[in-house]
Amino acid sequence: MLRGRVLSFLSEPQGRDDHASYRYIEDGAVVIDASTGRILWVREWGDGPGGDLRFVEIVDHRPHLIMAGFIDPHIHFPQMQVIGAYAGALLEWLNTYTFVEEQRFGDLEHSTRIASRFFDELIRHGTTTAAAYCSVHPQSVDAFFTEAARRDMLMVGGKVMMDRNAPPGLCDTPQSGYDDTKAGIAKWHGKGRAHYAITPRFAITSTHEQMAMAEALAQEFPDLHIQTHVSENLAEIAYANELFPNYGDYVGIYEKFHLLGPKTLLGHCIHLSHRETEVIAETRSVAVFCPTSNLFIGSGLFDYERQHQHGVRIATATDVGGGSSYSMLRTMDEGYKVLQLRGQRLTPFRSFYHLTLGNARAMSLDDRIGSLAPGKEADIVVLDSGATPQMKLRMETVHSLEQELFLLQTCGDDRAIVETY
Ligand code: GUN
Ligand code: ZN
Repeated sequence: MLRGRVLSFLSEPQGRDDHASYRYIEDGAVVIDASTGRILWVREWGDGPGGDLRFVEIVDHRPHLIMAGFIDPHIHFPQMQVIGAYAGALLEWLNTYTFVEEQRFGDLEHSTRIASRFFDELIRHGTTTAAAYCSVHPQSVDAFFTEAARRDMLMVGGKVMMDRNAPPGLCDTPQSGYDDTKAGIAKWHGKGRAHYAITPRFAITSTHEQMAMAEALAQEFPDLHIQTHVSENLAEIAYANELFPNYGDYVGIYEKFHLLGPKTLLGHCIHLSHRETEVIAETRSVAVFCPTSNLFIGSGLFDYERQHQHGVRIATATDVGGGSSYSMLRTMDEGYKVLQLRGQRLTPFRSFYHLTLGNARAMSLDDRIGSLAPGKEADIVVLDSGATPQMKLRMETVHSLEQELFLLQTCGDDRAIVETY
């Protein structure tokens, strides 16, 4: 049983004053069934937990804030040692650093070492679920899910399918990409908390034949997530359209291969045309906003308001190693600034909705994670709004939950994470 200030979202906040979108308990209790790992109750401490308390372990986190664990719907596990690589735009960054680094993941020992560090970092930053790109090598998938299982974490991941425009050591073939993906699904999907994602990296690194294989996999396994990149950078868009000249536009490529749908996570979505936005909205696909990456690689400013007005489902993610921080707090801070530069607003409650229930909904996992409620899986983060001397001082002038959340977002990072369950 955890005691502390409990915050959990019920719906998407519609404005600064939408206090019905969340539940906040000043002195609350989150009661967890240790045998199932699920939440039994969330209630006022004073209401009493009921039953025999003698054998219940109580962790008192007051005055800290207890929330559902953060969710990162777009991250590259083989890019831990690429973060902060000095490069120009996307294609240079990929070719100079990323495609070189990812070749090392053909080695299971290396994959295993990095996977262990990867989950250490996620936990340190309060992230309990992620959708991850592994490398092209099945070994990287094995390392990823083995380590996730060891920590009993709900993870989505898959080997990237890529058969051109990359070094030979990083290319599969249409057939091997299909076979390895299918074997990965059989080996991992549904084992414990593992979810396999069909992962064609992006149109530039897949031939028509490979895109058709991704389509076949999506037809065979319609309940799986699909993750890819789209419309991140202008040169990338031009190259994708050149490689697929008869598809109308970049989104049209994925559309014609029937890869769009409610479980499709589309990284970036920055420079979309009106038609592309409409198709993403109609197919209920998810646009994944990756602010630290978009700023670091100089890709552009995600048009949050435009996507939102079109009814596009929006997620927010780190995109490490294009992204520069594992912290979802740092991510939302940069996201806030991207919107500022576009003259748009992102309210503090909406930010924290995104980190939890919003991203859970975007990943169609909100029946299991993203909120603190009976029956939900007990993936939980505990936050300290006074984690640094500067934050502690600033907290003296903070007088509302909204202000506190905004301070956590603006100044918080891994130091603000007290505990991750
Ligand atoms: N597009 C294709 N692959 C990648 C990648 O690894 N990172 C980013 N940011 N964009 C991509
Ligand atoms: Zn990415």
